[in-house]
Amino acid sequence: MDRRHFVTSTTLGGGSLLVHPHLLANVSPTTKQVPSIENGFPLAISTWNNIEASQVAGENLEKNIDALTAAVQGVAVEEADKTNRTVGYGGAPDRSGKVTLDACVMNARGNCGSVMAVENIVHVAALAKDVMEKTPHVILSGNGARKFAIQQGYKVIDLLTDQSRRLWLEWLQKEHYKPVINAGHHDTIGMLCIDKSNDISGVCSTSGLAYKMEGRIGDSPIIGSGLFVDNEIGGAVATGLGEEVIKTVGSFLVVELIRQGFSPQESCQKAIERIVKGRKNLDFQVAYLAVNKKGDIGAYSIHKGFTYALYKKGQTLEIQSNSVY
Ligand code: GLY
Repeated sequence: MDRRHFVTSTTLGGGSLLVHPHLLANVSPTTKQVPSIENGFPLAISTWNNIEASQVAGENLEKNIDALTAAVQGVAVEEADKTNRTVGYGGAPDRSGKVTLDACVMNARGNCGSVMAVENIVHVAALAKDVMEKTPHVILSGNGARKFAIQQGYKVIDLLTDQSRRLWLEWLQKEHYKPVINAGHHDTIGMLCIDKSNDISGVCSTSGLAYKMEGRIGDSPIIGSGLFVDNEIGGAVATGLGEEVIKTVGSFLVVELIRQGFSPQESCQKAIERIVKGRKNLDFQVAYLAVNKKGDIGAYSIHKGFTYALYKKGQTLEIQSNSVY
């Protein structure tokens, strides 16, 4: 069953509510019985239809686990899912056939960690947290990040699945490179959690663009671009074409707009407008997801199709974002 076709008429955070059948099996979309969502903590939100990831994070938050640990555990669900071709195991390779993963984390105290272009390690969000907590550095990349992971006891595995290898070999026939809007209704997972202490943390994890040039790094492991958190203000995550997010330091921009007094919804919208202003060629997707200290949520994308998964009060809902087009 397609998770995405349970659309109701309710609006929330500037978008439509979609109800996930596995978690709300007793709610029929035809009766339009939509659970109400009010502010309150804990809260977990993640980009795209990552229902299980937000649910796992939320359930951990309910057990009084801190926001960053809960977010890393939630994101780990997607990292381990080999059917998801944009994150972790099964992620699409670069054009040389290597799967290289990027991730970053940021906690409520303003500390952060990041790993870039890591091969053979699935749980790169946890690895970024380890960089933050166990090294004197913020970023480790490539072979150094991989060596650090091995020292920390992470398993070394081949991240290229049979399906990813087959699709890559097909792609090599033409070698036509073009980012695809909402490919598979997924991309980078960015997650923001607010724990029972009202502390905010965030995580971002991705395999980057399919068939990227070897060595290419996107926005996801770059603090301020793929993710930014200021515990007094709020947090934001980005998904989509990383090059465009980096040029506007997107997640930092969203949080700074919230600081200036805009709602998370207005802030996401303004940050997207910064990208699209004066542009004619918009054949790419970027989306932002944000939350403020009160738990108000905002989401906005260039093209329609961006959704996010909101955990609150024991259940996770998929919500359709508003967009420019
Ligand atoms: N947003 C993911 C990337 O561009 O790599």
